[in-house]
Amino acid sequence: MRKPLMAGNWKMNKTVSESVSIIKALKGAVGGVSDVEILICPAFTALYEVNNEIKGSNINLGAQNLFWEAKGAFTGEISTAMIRDAGCSYVIVGHSERRQYFGETDKTVNKKTKAALAADITPIVCVGETLKERENNVTFSVIEKQVRDGLADITLQQASLTVIAYEPVWAIGTGKTATPDQAQEVHSFIRKIYAQMYKESAEKVRILYGGSVNPGNVSDLMKKSDIDGGLVGGASLEAESFTKLVKYSK
Ligand code: G3H
Repeated sequence: MRKPLMAGNWKMNKTVSESVSIIKALKGAVGGVSDVEILICPAFTALYEVNNEIKGSNINLGAQNLFWEAKGAFTGEISTAMIRDAGCSYVIVGHSERRQYFGETDKTVNKKTKAALAADITPIVCVGETLKERENNVTFSVIEKQVRDGLADITLQQASLTVIAYEPVWAIGTGKTATPDQAQEVHSFIRKIYAQMYKESAEKVRILYGGSVNPGNVSDLMKKSDIDGGLVGGASLEAESFTKLVKYSK
């Protein structure tokens, strides 16, 4: 009942021409796929051109960040209207790299989540524990706080539309993936918390796994009942490997 979502987060990679060239290759390769929703999140600078390239295809466009204010003196920031105008229907919110390097907190994640929802842009809200937190056995309390505070005060309908990405920080870009069982355990916990917050929306919300997803581990991860897709960094940077992820093949 939940359509899987495979999302590529290109992070701070690729010029405009590089972005367009990978999209051209990807479009051909994933053209027949209809059972998995496909999303690409390029750098801001490439959004407009990538959007022109994906028109009429089965590839969706997302931004990697936004600012919650509508307009004004906020140098360097991008509003929901701007990313929508550039063609985005999704936005990544609270990625651990933004929390770690740019001081994002559950409070700012919540403001961004609400701003995205108010603009009809689907937020992909990222949560995840650090290695130290996992070793100190506080994974579940850390995740619970991120989910409760990051997603506070949205409507039931918005809760069903929102996407959550569980990305253990220790697995991002390290080649260390959470095992499918480790990921499933946290995904099912997130769904339980979500049910307490937003009742039946918990069965509708898609929870993606992120952290060194690659063609070798994708099919085992996707077999787990609470894993509804992936948020992929490194393996989304080439059309060939991302196509394998979309098709769950090695
Ligand atoms: O947003 C994507 C995640 O940070 C995962 O990145 O696939 O390179 O580990 P990765």
